[in-house]
Amino acid sequence: MLRFVTIEGGDGSGKSRQIELLDEYLDARGEPRVLTREPGDTPLGKKLRRLLVEGRPESLSDETELFLILADRAQHVREVIRPALEQGKLVVSDRYADSTLAYQGYGRGMDLELLRGLNRVATGGTMPELTIVLDCPVEVALARAADRGSRSTAPESRFEAEGAAFQRRVRDGFLELAAAEPSRCVVVQTDGSVMEVQEKMRRIIDERLHADGERRDVR
Ligand code: TYD
Repeated sequence: MLRFVTIEGGDGSGKSRQIELLDEYLDARGEPRVLTREPGDTPLGKKLRRLLVEGRPESLSDETELFLILADRAQHVREVIRPALEQGKLVVSDRYADSTLAYQGYGRGMDLELLRGLNRVATGGTMPELTIVLDCPVEVALARAADRGSRSTAPESRFEAEGAAFQRRVRDGFLELAAAEPSRCVVVQTDGSVMEVQEKMRRIIDERLHADGERRDVR
């Protein structure tokens, strides 16, 4: 049964706007749901998020960054995600365990098997049934991020400051992870209009929600 969905993608993939629109859609359908995000959805997470995104790229070692992210996830899953799942709600998380494989693994070059093991500790085995990976060329993503930056007073995040080569490794990482798990992951290209991308996401989620219903009908 579709209960836990994660939305993944590189910086500037248009993820935040798409998740807002998805929430409006789920709201209109009356779907009991919790929309959440990593890093930073719990009170502890808000403090961790500040440490993670502020400052210069080199202000944290790769290992320190990893443990802050895992601490955020460990708290998030126990304080927010599992309680919502136990109440039968649909949980939609903006980033989750795949981000650690893409950013710390493919981006920073940390060992993927080690990260998978640490993710198992952090998540306690709570994993999404569906992951939508929003994908776009790095040049497009960087232009979007720069445009957002010019309209905002917030400083560029430590991750955005890493530059194009890092973002390219992250993108390739997400695509490789998605290809390795086609039953869980769906890649959506974000080169269409905002609403075209949104329609695709809504269809993917609807199909999974309905597929569960059909299976129940057959039995
Ligand atoms: P996010 O708020 O989603 O940034 P954006 O809106 O730019 O997509 O996430 C903040 C940063 O945290 C993002 O640049 C990626 C990074 N991150 C990791 O490196 N590893 C992780 O496991 C997670 C969850 C996030």
